[in-house]
Amino acid sequence: MPFARHKGTALITGASLGIGAVYAKRLARAGYDLILVARQADRLRTFATLLTNESGRSVEMIAADLSNPADLVTVVNTLAMDASVTFLVNNAGIGSFAPGTRLLDAHEAEQSIALSVIATIRLAYAVAPGFAARGRGTIVNISSMAAIAPEYVGGVHGANGAFVLALTRSLHHQFSRDGVRVQVVLPPVPTARLQGPLGKSNGQGQRNIDIEYLVDAALSSLDQGELVTMPYLPDTTLWTSYEHARDAIATRLSCVTPARRRRPR
Ligand SMILES: NC(=O)c1ccc[n+]([C@@H]2O[C@H](COP(=O)([O-])OP(=O)(O)OC[C@H]3O[C@@H](n4cnc5c(N)ncnc54)[C@H](OP(=O)(O)O)[C@@H]3O)[C@@H](O)[C@H]2O)c1
Repeated sequence: MPFARHKGTALITGASLGIGAVYAKRLARAGYDLILVARQADRLRTFATLLTNESGRSVEMIAADLSNPADLVTVVNTLAMDASVTFLVNNAGIGSFAPGTRLLDAHEAEQSIALSVIATIRLAYAVAPGFAARGRGTIVNISSMAAIAPEYVGGVHGANGAFVLALTRSLHHQFSRDGVRVQVVLPPVPTARLQGPLGKSNGQGQRNIDIEYLVDAALSSLDQGELVTMPYLPDTTLWTSYEHARDAIATRLSCVTPARRRRPR
């Protein structure tokens, strides 16, 4: 038996494991039918069967590599044509870190950007106009705390996260007045991935994060209308100060008076 009133369909990328799988369980319980996306069909099928049995919801799957343009188009078309979709979770991503002065392999960097940047924007753009036209819909984008300080992880993980954070702000600005809820979630970076002194000073050992807590906290913050959610940031006044500074700079985005800090020679 379904647990809750039917709320439409949620499409979740990277849904067979980790954070995406927890979103799938929670959204099924909250009353959504599901479309699960990941590459490995067998694992996806096993999980889809489990979820159907547990929740009583309709659970479909699309085996697709979202870094592959042809596969991405399949998912984009599904989203664009299926008006029952009311919730999108852009979660699939790979941790593309590079320690020290090493550069990430260029192909690996491109794959990671294709997944976290290109797929995220294509899927969000596939649903946003329909959500706005129908006056309801939710887009949750999974980023990373590295979005705030990409230099401490190397590679493109932080840069991808920063893109997702910036994109989410733009989507919110463009579509929130039409009834579209948008949220970006920033999970913490695994301590082992942090470089330099931060690797030692941030530490709570090598523990993995509690992804059940992460998703439950993020969904609760979504219900409260929070745009940027960092479920593991202990002191939220730090974020408030950051946002105030950002707002102050934003009022000067098109300031054309030279700052005159450096005098021409
Ligand atoms: N867990 C953390 O500590 C942490 C921290 C910071 C940020 N994040 C971010 O949170 C998101 C989820 O992380 P996670 O740790 O939960 O990941 P995970 O456990 O490694 O699971 C990744 C999921 O994405 C799918 N996937 C991977 N590449 C894909 C592709 N090219 N196309 C389609 N699906 C793909 C995987 O299934 P297949 O292999 O079958 O495709 C799997 O379902 C990522 O964006 C990650 O960057 C996580």
